[in-house]
Amino acid sequence: MDWGIQNRLSRIIKPDTKRTVMLAVDHGYFLGPTHKLENARATIKPLVPYADALMLTRGILRTSVDPDTDVPVVLRVSGGSSIIGKNLSNEGITTSIEEAIRLNAAAVALSIFIGTEYEHQTLMNLAHLIDRAKPFGLPVLAVTAVGKELGKRDMRFLALSCRIAAELGASFVKTYYCDEFEKVVESCPVPLVIAGGPKLETELDALIMARDALEKGAIGVDMGRNIWQSPHPVAMIKAVRAVVHQKMSPEEALEVFKKNK
Ligand code: 5RP
Repeated sequence: MDWGIQNRLSRIIKPDTKRTVMLAVDHGYFLGPTHKLENARATIKPLVPYADALMLTRGILRTSVDPDTDVPVVLRVSGGSSIIGKNLSNEGITTSIEEAIRLNAAAVALSIFIGTEYEHQTLMNLAHLIDRAKPFGLPVLAVTAVGKELGKRDMRFLALSCRIAAELGASFVKTYYCDEFEKVVESCPVPLVIAGGPKLETELDALIMARDALEKGAIGVDMGRNIWQSPHPVAMIKAVRAVVHQKMSPEEALEVFKKNK
């Protein structure tokens, strides 16, 4: 792997544990002012010290994150549709590689929508982005299945999506946890992180999902709502870190949550 890509990835995936806790705060790019992310700066600021990377758009980065932070940025560079529009999967590339470099991004992220009307378009977006990013040593994170596509949260669909992303050259892939997740991992030759998905009923549920995904081969999480929609977001990200980096059980990590809330 190219030195630049490897170096940038090692800012995100911590070399001592080979794992990562990415904080996803990019939801507004198609959801608008998502619950608890209405004031992005207020939500993000207390969580930054506990995030191994921040996943967000250039707009929220510029307006809501201080430039003197040294947290690596995974810049979302796809978009172009909204949750109330005709078709969520009709995405294009919204941000140039030059802009990503100007913002000192450690990686760029783009969604692919397998099995939808815009499958071809979004896969070509990915291929094009990888071709543009590679000469600059910039890793590409492919994000599989969002929004209505979450109905398809099954192993065969996610394995198909992740494998295609890897075949096209993604450096790492973000997907959802599912039953038989180990089969998604086994058939994807690049590292996988899981999204948290919609807020689960309890903090313990989210910690169990993270632990299960890690045990089955994920290298970390790129979690949003299950952290910042918790009534105690800092306590929750600390608990997630305990599962990811210290390999604590979900029950032990829940104690970390309780102590910090
Ligand atoms: C949307 C995304 C989000 O970042 C992703 O869904 C992660 O956040 P959450 O844990 O809230 O699901 O990529 O396309």
